[in-house]
Amino acid sequence: MNVAVLGGTGKTGRAVVAALAQVGVSARPLGRSAFEDLPAALAGADAVHVIAPNLHPDEPAYVASVLAAAAEANVDRLTYHSVASPYAPSMPHHLGKAVAEDLVRRSGLRWTVLQPCAYVQNFLPALADLPAEGGELAVPYAVDTPFGLVDLDDVAAATAVVLTTPGHEGATYELGGPALVTVAGVAGAAAEVLERPVRARRTDPDAWRGEGLDERERAWLRSMFAYYDDHGLPTGPLPLAALLAMVGRAPSPVADVLARVLAGTS
Ligand SMILES: NC(=O)c1ccc[n+]([C@@H]2O[C@H](COP(=O)([O-])OP(=O)(O)OC[C@H]3O[C@@H](n4cnc5c(N)ncnc54)[C@H](OP(=O)(O)O)[C@@H]3O)[C@@H](O)[C@H]2O)c1
Repeated sequence: MNVAVLGGTGKTGRAVVAALAQVGVSARPLGRSAFEDLPAALAGADAVHVIAPNLHPDEPAYVASVLAAAAEANVDRLTYHSVASPYAPSMPHHLGKAVAEDLVRRSGLRWTVLQPCAYVQNFLPALADLPAEGGELAVPYAVDTPFGLVDLDDVAAATAVVLTTPGHEGATYELGGPALVTVAGVAGAAAEVLERPVRARRTDPDAWRGEGLDERERAWLRSMFAYYDDHGLPTGPLPLAALLAMVGRAPSPVADVLARVLAGTS
């Protein structure tokens, strides 16, 4: 089997390519240059896994171009990496994925939609930089709202299950971690793993600078912070657990992910 992974050179894509390699599937990581001739880039693939770039200004257009290229290249199996709670009109980048999901479902291809929660790994840069005497996990949104934070490696392993076993065509799977956690809970788990004090703190989103992002991207992320302030991003644990059980593994709790990836920094 040969899977073309769009966005395969990014953070999510690299994890998916590695998970596919672990089950003996040849994966073709494709970055932005693949869009110069997408049908040619997809030619010969048995399936395409679609990951859009972060905060794409028009994700439905991006996905529509992939659907057209897949049809032209005679690739009729497609999995789409969406997000948990895509239909959230106050978060433009989620709403773009909701609209793109609809395109996928009406594409005529054999599709599966995956809706991962936020990754535990998003917190790693901040936690890896904490000084030996401890410090803060500072985020521009509430530290006491619930999230179904998920291990990116679990998301990737579940994606490999979906691509390599039957029964997933026409399915939409929300992929949440094994328990609801808060950012304060992440800080507590990090303190245990790093054996130093870690305090969660909400910073003022209006003072958040969003280095390296343009004005639209900053505005979209501020909308997400406002949503997180009010609601977090809760998800259920069962679909991911069921998919991983098919390959004899269980979703990783936040503390286990942090222990695995921060081990070298304590
Ligand atoms: N982080 C989370 O917690 C989370 C949770 C759920 C869903 N997601 C979703 O996961 C997706 C991927 O996130 P990520 O962090 O893995 O992204 P990333 O590391 O920034 O990777 C982006 C990928 O998209 C490609 N790309 C960039 N600009 C492009 C363009 N204009 N046209 C075509 N391809 C382009 C990049 O290729 P090059 O190497 O050529 O630049 C790279 O392969 C996003 O849609 C995000 O919303 C993230």
